[in-house]
Amino acid sequence: MINFSCSWIFLSLVILFSHGGFLKLEASHNIYRHLQSASESSSVDQKQPYRTAFHFQPSKNWMNDPNGPFIYKGIYHLFYQYNPFGSVWGNIVWAHSTSTDLVNWTPHPHAIYPSIPSDINGCWSGSTTILPNGKLVILYTGINKENHQVQNMAVPKNLSDPYLLEWVKPTYNPLMEPTPYNEINGSSFRDPTTAWMGPDGRWRLIVGNKKRQRGIAILYRSKDFVRWTKAQHPLHSVKDNGMWECPDFFPVSSEKTEIGLDTSTIGNGVKHVLKVSLDNTRYEYYTVGTYDIKKDKYIPDVGSVESDFGLRYDYGKFYASKTFFDSIKHRRILWGWINESTNATLDIAKGWSGIQAIPREMWLDKLGKQLIQWPIREIEKLRTKQVSIPRMDLKGGSLVEISGVTASQADIEVTFELPKLEHNNVETIEKSLLMNPKMVCGQKVTSVKGMFGPFGLLVLASKNLQEYTAVFFRIFRVDYKYVVLMCSDQTRSSAYLDYDKPSYGVFLDVDPTKEKLSLRSLIDRSIVESFGGEGKACITSRVYPSLAIDGGAHLYAFNNGTQSVIISSLTAWSMKNAHIN
Ligand code: FRU
Repeated sequence: MINFSCSWIFLSLVILFSHGGFLKLEASHNIYRHLQSASESSSVDQKQPYRTAFHFQPSKNWMNDPNGPFIYKGIYHLFYQYNPFGSVWGNIVWAHSTSTDLVNWTPHPHAIYPSIPSDINGCWSGSTTILPNGKLVILYTGINKENHQVQNMAVPKNLSDPYLLEWVKPTYNPLMEPTPYNEINGSSFRDPTTAWMGPDGRWRLIVGNKKRQRGIAILYRSKDFVRWTKAQHPLHSVKDNGMWECPDFFPVSSEKTEIGLDTSTIGNGVKHVLKVSLDNTRYEYYTVGTYDIKKDKYIPDVGSVESDFGLRYDYGKFYASKTFFDSIKHRRILWGWINESTNATLDIAKGWSGIQAIPREMWLDKLGKQLIQWPIREIEKLRTKQVSIPRMDLKGGSLVEISGVTASQADIEVTFELPKLEHNNVETIEKSLLMNPKMVCGQKVTSVKGMFGPFGLLVLASKNLQEYTAVFFRIFRVDYKYVVLMCSDQTRSSAYLDYDKPSYGVFLDVDPTKEKLSLRSLIDRSIVESFGGEGKACITSRVYPSLAIDGGAHLYAFNNGTQSVIISSLTAWSMKNAHIN
């Protein structure tokens, strides 16, 4: 393994001049046959600049989807899709780690790996259900001898082992499989959800599927969790979505905020969320709606956009996510996979690929139309060296360095106040562009002067701003209404490395004439996770600075508009390293 800390220039050249030949299979599983097992390294230098300090990642090799998270006897379990033999996708097993605080993690032996005919070619994503008798069941997708996707079960060998290290597969696997009678396509049938129980005492779950380009959540029912029958109709389906990977279906409270519900909860004061990951675009979207238990159908609320132009957990890099109910703290927690923005060549040079986002608590907003997300409170125990700046006027064109924190590993919370918005001091935008915030962020990047905005934070910035990732707001007027655009602009995130550097964006559901604008960014060396409007919208950026590494990283507040805005509060903390795997 190369010494990464002094060889990033070498790596940039590798990236600029290399091209990895690969074969693209169904499900966006890029098959680098020659690389799947060729690149295993005995160990990876944990001080490489792009390895994160407090995000979940294995000590080496490839990781993708979070699988089957749950809490059992006070211990959090996370499984994940893992290649034990290299840093590109392939040879997939369920790797396993546990934690008591969702921050520090201990690795364990692989929990589920190919060992039976119905998973001999791979153990793909799935979920855990905790049964009322306290027993635990994992359902996961196995790739069988014929390379078809089938659904299998695994259960803990010994429930009194607090770490649940060994998982066994009953002889009656697989539980669900494609047959000529059920017309399921064996290459688009995967990722079973956590099961929920209906009032009739029967279990239900969904499995992701597609028929032609219709995305489908196939519904299965069971009395005993062993024999599963496919329902006549799906729980829900949407045309032109393509394959629905990693569906997630769960209840949220429409009466109380900041709490989560057990997956089987139904009744008054409960709405449901359906999230799907679109294999065609590699973005996810969700809708909020009603679960009609009589018809066993999910009906999204009127006005829901059922594509990735709709509501998303994250408007940046975030995929194959999954929630679970934390019965101890009564909250629903979201895990999501953040893949690399570079190609396989750098992943092999680094010896690893993929991290998990900081777990987020999630609940329904007061108005019942969208979800709110916030990093789990436990992450705040890594905060150290607090810096606050007093209320200040951030004049148009100004740049203020926030010194005193480790800018490569930080947590920042800032709130902006706007003076009175007038018709003639706010730039206008065409209504049609409201559907495409990413395009607007791509055109109006940080350096493009506006009136109110761009203002926000420059993170992972080099001293003379050759490099920075900018997270900012920009106010527009559409007819008589004001709207707030939030962008995470990566176009200048690395002076030397070439990779996918979009400027991500979202229109924030905040009224800038009435509310303050808040932003929180978690910065961890090569990742910037930002929460706008107190968690109404999130954007995750994956960046690889060449100069803004370790001590070379700086943090600024900036305003590149013509109008002044007020920073009403700004607090930043350095973040300590977590103990991860
Ligand atoms: C999503 C996904 C799942 C599949 C797994 C395989 O990223 O494609 O649909 O089960 O990854 O690793």
